This record gives sequence, C-alpha cells and structure tokens, in this order.
Amino acid sequence: MKTKIIKVKDDNFNILSQAVEILDRGDLVAFPTETVYGLGADGLNPQAVEKIFLAKGRPQDNPLILHISDFRMLEDLSSGDLTKAKILAEKFWPGPMTLVLKKSNLVPDIITGGLDTVALRLPANEIARNLIRKLGRPIAAPSANISGRPSPTDARTTFEDLDGKIPLIIDGGSTRVGLESTVIDLTEDEPVILRPGAITLEMLREIFPSSSIDLSLVSADQVPKSPGQKYKHYAPKAEAYLLKGSLLEKVNKLSDFIKENSDKKIGIMGSSQLLSLFQASQIEAIDLGPWEDLDQVASKIFKGLRDLDRKNVDIIVVEAFSEAGLGLAIMNRLKKSTGNKYL
Ligand code: TXA
Ligand code: MG
Repeated sequence: MKTKIIKVKDDNFNILSQAVEILDRGDLVAFPTETVYGLGADGLNPQAVEKIFLAKGRPQDNPLILHISDFRMLEDLSSGDLTKAKILAEKFWPGPMTLVLKKSNLVPDIITGGLDTVALRLPANEIARNLIRKLGRPIAAPSANISGRPSPTDARTTFEDLDGKIPLIIDGGSTRVGLESTVIDLTEDEPVILRPGAITLEMLREIFPSSSIDLSLVSADQVPKSPGQKYKHYAPKAEAYLLKGSLLEKVNKLSDFIKENSDKKIGIMGSSQLLSLFQASQIEAIDLGPWEDLDQVASKIFKGLRDLDRKNVDIIVVEAFSEAGLGLAIMNRLKKSTGNKYL
C-alpha cells in the first residue's frame, strides 16, 4: 500500500473530505491531535478497528480511546451518571483529557477489549475535531506508533512507523502538548488518574479534591487498571538511562559515564541548565528547554528520543525531572522509556 502524506493548511480544510471517505469505507487515517498523532478508524466499525491492531502490532486486550466532537456523542456512547463527567468536560474539553465511563451498547467490544467501560476524549486540535464531525461518528485512535515505540509528535515520525500500512497521513505540523492525554477513571466514587498527562492531578483536585492517581503508577507491584499501562512502552532503540540527583550530582555522574564509555556514541536529553555544562564532542545533545518550563520539556521528549534513534546513538541518558504538576506525566513516560534504569 502506498502511504500519502497531505499537509493541511488553514485554507484547505476540504482536504479532510478525502480522509473522511477513507474512514467511511473502513480504512485507516493517521491525523494530528494536540497531544500526539493518532491512528484513526471509524469507531463504530469493528472490521475497521481491527486494522488498527494489525497496523500497530497492538495487543488485543488493550482498549482504545473513542474521539468525539460534541457532548451528544458523550451521551450516546456512555451510560450511567454523567454529572462528574460533564463538570470536567466543561472545564477541560476540548483538550488533553480522556474520561473512562460505563459504556453504552453502541460501543463495539473490540474498542473496550471486553471491559464494560469506554474511554472518551474530545480533542482540541481543529483537524481532529473536524474529521470526527464530518464523519459523524466517533474515531477510535491510539497513538500512531508501532506498539512499544515513543508516540509520534509529527507526520514524519508517523510515516516512519506506518509507511506502507495505511493509505493516508494528515500532516498538521508538530503537536502542541507532545504527551498523550490524561486518562481519568470516573467509574468509582472519586476520580482516579490512570495515565498522567497535561491535565494534572493538581488541576483535577481543584475541582474534585479527593481525586487520586492509580496506585500502579507509584508502586511496581500493583496491577494497573488501565490495560495499556502494563506493556513495554515508549522505548527508543538505544539502551536508555535516567539521570537523577542534584545538578552537581548529575554533572559528576554524567562526566564519569562519558569517560567510561568513550568508545560509544552517547545521546543526552536534558534541561538547558544541564546541557550548558557539557561541551563534549562525542555526545549528541537534545536540549529540552529550561528546567522549570515543563510544558516545553513535555513537548520535546518523544521527539528527542526519536531524533536520537535517527542519529544511531548507542546509549541515551535522560535527565530526571521533578514529579510535581506536569512532571508526573513526563517522568511516567521517561521511566517507561528507560525501563526504570538509572545511571
Ligand atoms: O492523547 C491521547 O490520548 C492519544 C491521542 C491520539 O488522542 N491517544 C492515545 O491512545 O494515547 P492509546 O491507545 O495509545 O492509549 C490509550 C490508553 C491506554 O493506556 C489504554 O489502556 C487506556 O487508554 N484505556 C482505553 N480504554 C480504557 C478503559 N475502558 N479503561 C481503562 N483504560 C483504558
Ligand atoms: Mg500509545
């Protein structure tokens, strides 16, 4: 199959008609959202959704998010009390938040992996929303990477993973957030974050103070409630390590490590502060931005891992960040990318 990439600019939104035709006939389209690129199928067509699992090599028991374009779809696809959902939706939709709710009979089993709940998200990206609106049905979309790899934040990376497997990639430029949405379970008494993202625990607690994060995110021996959290994830090709400690400790550890591995090509991803202290020539450096600018850091980590893979480094060292606010999501991804290995 030949994979086309079409760039969307402000004035050619009608190009989306082509994408809608493909989705309508049961094929796949990759498209931008504000978080990461998604690999979309008509969410009410089980044969189409099946193709997502094949293209990604995704385990069948890992359920998919249905992307919606309005509150009507929220009501149609879920059942049970929507009071909390509507409060959160008013506040954070359209945006990087996914709500897990009791599902309605409309939702195909292949979407939920047999669970009685469904994950719904109303994305902020205009291309994504227009695509759903024009299709008139929810779009099932996981991140548009081969399973296990870092999620793609641009069309080029999406193409690297899915070339020859899908007919169309819509190029809407780089994604703003750069990490997948916050997944919030609303099927218990109080909201629980199953996957951290740009809608942080702190933001959620301003509305529902008793909100918590799933224990499996903080303790290794808890079984995650979000099936996707148990799989190997976000892994670069190179062996990767986290670098933690005070700035001084980091600098010392890193200097030693570079000396000990002088025969290797080393990639380093870190804050501007850390990188400004390193001048070594044998390293490929990815500047994630100022230590305190977590929005910028978040938007650059998946892209950074992909860039280092393209440069064929042998080892990647990534600076650890604080786990407050958006830092929780950043560290969640980095721990998975490195397999929780520290220098
Ligand atoms: O930002 C995002 O959420 C991106 C863009 C494309 O929207 N999508 C995305 O999808 O990250 P995916 O499939 O890579 O991750 C979906 C996550 C998985 O961890 C999955 O296990 C969880 O949501 N999930 C889906 N349905 C669920 C359910 N019913 N209960 C618990 N977790 C669920
Ligand atoms: Mg994913």
